[in-house]
Amino acid sequence: MNKPITTADAQPNNLDAYWMPFTGNRQFKKQPRMLVAAEGMHYTSHDGRQILDAAAGMWCVNAGHGRREILEAVKAQVATMDYAPPFQMGHPLAFEVAARVARIAPAGMERVFFTNSGSEAVDTALKIAIAYHRLRGEGTRTRLIGRERGYHGVGFGGTSVGGISSNRKFFGPLLNGVDHLRHTHDLAKNAYSRGQPEHGADLAEDLERLVALHDASTIACVIVEPMAGSTGVLVPPKGYLERLRQICDRHGILLIFDEVITGFGRVGKSFAATRFAITPDIITCAKGLTNGTVPMGGVICKNAIYEAFMQGPEWAVELFHGYTYTAHPLACAASLASLDLFEAEKLFERTLELQPYFEQAVHSLKGAPHVVDIRNIGLVAGIEMAPRPGEPGKRGFDAFLKIYEKGVLPRVTGDIIALSPPLIVERPQIDRIVETIGQVLRTLN
Ligand SMILES: Cc1ncc(COP(=O)(O)O)c(C=O)c1O
Repeated sequence: MNKPITTADAQPNNLDAYWMPFTGNRQFKKQPRMLVAAEGMHYTSHDGRQILDAAAGMWCVNAGHGRREILEAVKAQVATMDYAPPFQMGHPLAFEVAARVARIAPAGMERVFFTNSGSEAVDTALKIAIAYHRLRGEGTRTRLIGRERGYHGVGFGGTSVGGISSNRKFFGPLLNGVDHLRHTHDLAKNAYSRGQPEHGADLAEDLERLVALHDASTIACVIVEPMAGSTGVLVPPKGYLERLRQICDRHGILLIFDEVITGFGRVGKSFAATRFAITPDIITCAKGLTNGTVPMGGVICKNAIYEAFMQGPEWAVELFHGYTYTAHPLACAASLASLDLFEAEKLFERTLELQPYFEQAVHSLKGAPHVVDIRNIGLVAGIEMAPRPGEPGKRGFDAFLKIYEKGVLPRVTGDIIALSPPLIVERPQIDRIVETIGQVLRTLN
C-alpha cells in the first residue's frame, strides 16, 4: 500500500507558478483537485479520499495504477543504464519494444519509430507520409487531410489536421495545404447506438470530394482516429473505415490511424485496426504503450514505407527526424513490462468480454435528465448532455466537478462525459461509476 499522505504534505503553498494545460487555471487554483497517490483502480486525493478512476488517468493507464512489475522494470533500468543516445547508437530494449509492438500490429506493419508523446507521433507520421511520396518520385503529394472534430495532439501538424475549433482558432493559419473531411456524428440518425452506428458509411465519400477539389496528385495522407476519443467518443459507422481505405487505395493516398487512445486494448483488441479489420498504412500510438508511466509514443509503419526510405549510401541518414529521448531506456523498460502485463492478464480479451456488461450499464442512463445520446465500444463510452443555452461546456464541467466530489474521476469534454476505465475494472466498479453519474445527472441543472 502507498503510505498515507496528509493534507499538509500534499498541498503546495503556492499554486501560482504552474501554468496548467487544458485547464481553467483560475477556477482550479481557487478550488484545487490534487491527486497524490494511485493504486489499482483508485487515486488518493489530497484530502485522503479514494477516487475511482473512470478515465484510466487520461485514457492511458490500461493495466491499472501502481503496477509493481512496471515499477521494478523501470527501477532496474535506471540502475543499469539511465540514458543512451538514439542517433547513431542503439540499446537492446528499443529493438525489443519495437519487435513486441510489431507482433501485435496488423500483419505487414512491422517497422516502428519512437517518440515521447502522441503529439510527436502524429507530427512524425505526417512528416513520414510526405517524405515517403517524395522518395517515390511523387513530391507533389504534400497535402494533409484530417477530419472535423478530430484530435491529433497539439503540435503544429496535429493542430492543423485536428478539427476541434477551440484548439485551432487561437493559433493563426497553422500549416497550409490541409483540408478536412466531415465528421461522422449524426445524432438524428444514430443516437443511442450500441457499438458501431448503422448510418454514416457514405460520409467516407467526402474524401472523393476533396480529391476532386485538390486532385489526388497533391494529397499525401488522410489521418483519422478510428474511434474519435477526445471530441467525445465517436464510434465509426459500420462500413465507414472500409470505404475510407478503398478510396485511399484508389488514389494512392496513405491512410493513418491515430490510435493514441485506441491502441493497447481500449476497444478490445491490440489496435482498433485489428478490431475493425482494416489495415492502415501508418498507426500512431502512445498512452497505453507504457501504461501511462513513462512518456512514450510510436509510429508503426507498413514495411513498404520503411523500405522506400532505405536508399542512397548505407552510411547515410535516411530519415532526418528524431528526438533526444526517442526510445528512452526507462520508457522502453516500462513498455516491455506493460506489454507483458497486457498479455499475461489477457486484458484485451477481458475488454471484449466486459463490453456487453459495460454497454448495458452505461445505456441504463438513457432517459436521465439532460442526456441526448449514449455511445460505446470496448471499454469506452460517451454520455452526451444537451448544452445549457449560451454556455456550451458549462453543464459538462459542473457534472465533472460533482462526479469527482462523489469519488469518481471521469473525463469530460464539452458537454460529453467520456468513460474509459482501466481494463482491470470490475463489474461492481462499473456499477458504481454509472450510479454516481446517474445521481449527479438528477441533481444537475
Ligand atoms: C488521438 C490522439 N492523438 C494524439 C494525442 C496527443 O497525445 P499527447 O497528449 O501524448 O501528445 C491524443 C491525446 O489525447 C489523442 O487522443
